[in-house]
Amino acid sequence: MVQLLNMKSLREIIKEADEKGVAVGHFNISNLEGLHGIYNAAKKLSVPVIIGLSEGEEEFVGKEEGVALIKALRERDNFPIYLNADHHYSFESVKAAIDAGYDSVIIDCAKLPLEENIALTKKCVDYAHEVNKKFNRDVLVEAELGFIGQSSKMLDAVPDGVSEATMTKPEDAKTFVEATGIDMLAPSVGNVHGMVRSGNPRLHPDRVKEIREATGIPLVLHGGSGTMDQDFVACIKNGIDIVHINTEIRVAYRKGLEEALKNMPDEVAPYKYLPEAVDAIEKVVEARLKLFNNIQ
Ligand code: G3H
Ligand code: ZN
Repeated sequence: MVQLLNMKSLREIIKEADEKGVAVGHFNISNLEGLHGIYNAAKKLSVPVIIGLSEGEEEFVGKEEGVALIKALRERDNFPIYLNADHHYSFESVKAAIDAGYDSVIIDCAKLPLEENIALTKKCVDYAHEVNKKFNRDVLVEAELGFIGQSSKMLDAVPDGVSEATMTKPEDAKTFVEATGIDMLAPSVGNVHGMVRSGNPRLHPDRVKEIREATGIPLVLHGGSGTMDQDFVACIKNGIDIVHINTEIRVAYRKGLEEALKNMPDEVAPYKYLPEAVDAIEKVVEARLKLFNNIQ
């Protein structure tokens, strides 16, 4: 996406968050209501925000539509709002997102063996560098090392393959970062995608610190929903610069919508019953942004 003259790049926003000891909130959307709820909260608090579109969300919203929406808000309000291609699984889908104008992309090959993860990630990084050079852009590439599950939904148990034993090892992270040249790393540090009904596992801030020291690049905490406040705070202090939240806002949206439909059984105008769902998202995002940005 083209930067406005006085608009900070996402790289600068992340650097600034790191220096301040806070984290940038990343929230996924599936529709315009989601975007409104998230943007309202970010504007109210005057803090930067990243909007995420995973492959599934992107298919529903539309790649170019997503880029156009974020660009319109950023330019109209001169506000630091950015678009990330969240969890893209192939070179082709990462390339398409970069070409469409996203600010950052995540190539997620966490399920693949390390060597294959490195090869595919490197291919995406090389393409981003090529585009950045050619078009004077600064698209960031993030990759994932260590599996943390895949679905932003309510879960009955911690997903198979996620355990303390499979958390990202600092030495692997160092090798991975050096071999790929990524801008940001999403590690496995006790986090899981989705919300476990009986409670999410605790995070491991010490592991965050070790990985950060070993790699020296910004770390991104995925699977933020259902995490205890104190775990967020400790991990942000130890090197997390971006936090992803999705399930919590999906749950809030659905509850808000159900409530509105219950209260207005005969209403057929979406713009009359959807504001309740937007407000529900805004509340969740506002609370999370306050925590991540250390706002009382
Ligand atoms: O990329 C998206 C996230 O990591 C969201 O995870 O649904 O557990 O909040 P979550
Ligand atoms: Zn994620």
